[in-house]
Amino acid sequence: MKVLILGSKGMLGSDLMNVFAEYEPVGVDKDEVDITDESALRGMLERVEPTVVINATGYTNVDQAETKEGFEMATKINGLAVGVLAELCEKRGITLVHFSTDYVFDGRKKGDYKETDDAAPINRYGESKFIGEQLLQQKSMKFYLVRTSWLFGKHGGNFVGKMLELAGKGEILRVVNDQIGKPTWTMDLAESVLNLLIEARPFGIYHIVNEDAVSWYDFAHEIFEMTGVAAEVVPIGSEEARRAARRPRNSVLASAKFPLLRSHKEALQNYLSTL
Ligand SMILES: NC(=O)c1ccc[n+]([C@@H]2O[C@H](COP(=O)([O-])OP(=O)(O)OC[C@H]3O[C@@H](n4cnc5c(N)ncnc54)[C@H](OP(=O)(O)O)[C@@H]3O)[C@@H](O)[C@H]2O)c1
Repeated sequence: MKVLILGSKGMLGSDLMNVFAEYEPVGVDKDEVDITDESALRGMLERVEPTVVINATGYTNVDQAETKEGFEMATKINGLAVGVLAELCEKRGITLVHFSTDYVFDGRKKGDYKETDDAAPINRYGESKFIGEQLLQQKSMKFYLVRTSWLFGKHGGNFVGKMLELAGKGEILRVVNDQIGKPTWTMDLAESVLNLLIEARPFGIYHIVNEDAVSWYDFAHEIFEMTGVAAEVVPIGSEEARRAARRPRNSVLASAKFPLLRSHKEALQNYLSTL
């Protein structure tokens, strides 16, 4: 496997670089290759000649994506560029791994979202990711479209870090209790991606998440229980949180095609022990 990782300095990209280390992956980020620049992408593929490209880039600011400029950027990075990349990879017979999100679903389903469920995003970030999903599937055959959710990891801003930071300042934490999902450690996800490739599973859509759904509020409690950090956590509803972007109430992804990952609690414990 000759692996090229795009977005290699991001939260997920950094752990992909760690997990794929034995394959000596080439990692590039925005400073070297802007994914929206087709000729830069083409040049990189010609230089590296990868057999696998893992696209861990993304415009990930969900609230910022609600603004006009934000949505334009998100559409370019999460949407249109994915189509271009898919076409370039397809022409060269390269396998493409791409990541999408629970936020492509509207959250109104009773029960977990399967790989086959219809997407219907309710915010701009979700829309931009859905454009990417559609273009990927139109332009290539050799793809793994990996939907995941609520990522936490060492190399990027995330909910776990935010909670600990705010608690450290002695702030009262107001956390939503009416959105549920599956928090997922970037290391566990990266290892699963390696297994997908090694096991040469059929191409297509996969949901890969740590197990056991929780609300953000319950997740906050788990973080403080495990770290022993004292914090006052107050449950609030989504309306009260007044975020620019609406979030799906039910963000729970079911993994029907891939062996279930361990519980997010175990993953969280493991993650905290590495800090
Ligand atoms: N975080 C989550 O909870 C979550 C949940 C579900 C799915 N995902 C998906 O998982 C993937 C990785 O997410 P993440 O949380 O690791 O994101 P991240 O930490 O924000 O990393 C994204 C990386 O992409 C880079 N990037 C941004 N624009 C680029 C461009 N035009 N060209 C090249 N690189 C660019 C970023 O560089 P800069 O930092 O310099 O901009 C950053 O290094 C994304 O596709 C995301 O949509 C994330």
